[in-house]
Amino acid sequence: MSDLRETYLKAIAGAGDEATLEALRVQALGKKGEISLAMRELGRMSAEERQEAGPRLNALKDEINSALAAKKQGLADAALDERLRGEWLDVTLPARPRRQGTIHPVSQVTEEVTAIFADMGFAVAEGPQIESDWYNFDALNIPGHHPARAEMDTFYTHRADGDDRPPHVLRTHTSPVQIRAMQMQGAPIRVIAPGRVYRADYDQTHTPMFHQVEGLAIDRDISMANLKWVLEEFVKAFFEVDAVDLRFRASHFPFTEPSAEVDIRCSWEGGTLKVGEGDDWLEILGSGMVHPHVLRAGGIDPEQWQGFAFGMGIDRIAMLKYGIPDLRAFFDSDLRWLRHYGFSALDQPTLHGGLSR
Ligand code: DAH
Repeated sequence: MSDLRETYLKAIAGAGDEATLEALRVQALGKKGEISLAMRELGRMSAEERQEAGPRLNALKDEINSALAAKKQGLADAALDERLRGEWLDVTLPARPRRQGTIHPVSQVTEEVTAIFADMGFAVAEGPQIESDWYNFDALNIPGHHPARAEMDTFYTHRADGDDRPPHVLRTHTSPVQIRAMQMQGAPIRVIAPGRVYRADYDQTHTPMFHQVEGLAIDRDISMANLKWVLEEFVKAFFEVDAVDLRFRASHFPFTEPSAEVDIRCSWEGGTLKVGEGDDWLEILGSGMVHPHVLRAGGIDPEQWQGFAFGMGIDRIAMLKYGIPDLRAFFDSDLRWLRHYGFSALDQPTLHGGLSR
């Protein structure tokens, strides 16, 4: 019996894989295994013999079971070590850029704009693209007869026959998100709202769907001076220049009073646009102090709070920054265009890492 013990322990120690271990287990402890058969012999022994052989066989059985289990664990550990060695990976290596797919300039610029305003304490707000006419127009102090409400400019949805509630619209600007953000958050508030907007228009600089980013800052004592500073900081950061010249032109929007359109100094010398120099001016956004009616529609008391808002075309500033001549090509899904103007998915725009590379 001590032969049995030695044979098995040696075989187990030398087993190279789980199948060999299992074969050994069956050979020793299976129904017809050597040790099982020996145990069956116990019944034919005398009482004294049994008293001596019984415990010894049981101990041997336990010992072989433990040896099998320990060896099994050892094999599993070795297999894991082997696999870890094979699949070793240096996660600190720089990723290999793959230019299979690219980030669309609109997404890139939206990320850039978001990074810049986040740095100035603006959160991102969102609203639906199918909007009620109250949010899109009335709440923004746009009266019923305003030309923007005309069917030739705005996409209206249909109501079922007999349903005479006003139809929803595809939002014509991101300004309704001002109202939703104020209703949800109250004052003080500092948000931007990038997103898609829709107007019935199509030529080299107009597409029926395009993108805007809205800005809204409401607090106790926010003034036009704050608006001017924020926009200057934004333009410098976005166009990645040290100095810019902005021109605030008096204008009119129903939702702001006073209102200003903002132009940026630029030159078109040699057919390329340069921001911050030259004698040309290019309009980039509308802005103003939020009208008291608009604050009230957002549930904010105009006696207590005031602030500024602005709205800017994302596609427009993307065209300016990256020299893309035709807006319509933005939405053609032409792979050659996307490869040419697209950005690497690995370059995340940040203020410290660089907005565009
Ligand atoms: N909603 C305007 C448009 O689509 C842009 C705009 C102008 C937004 C002035 C504003 C603002 O927030 O204050 O043309």
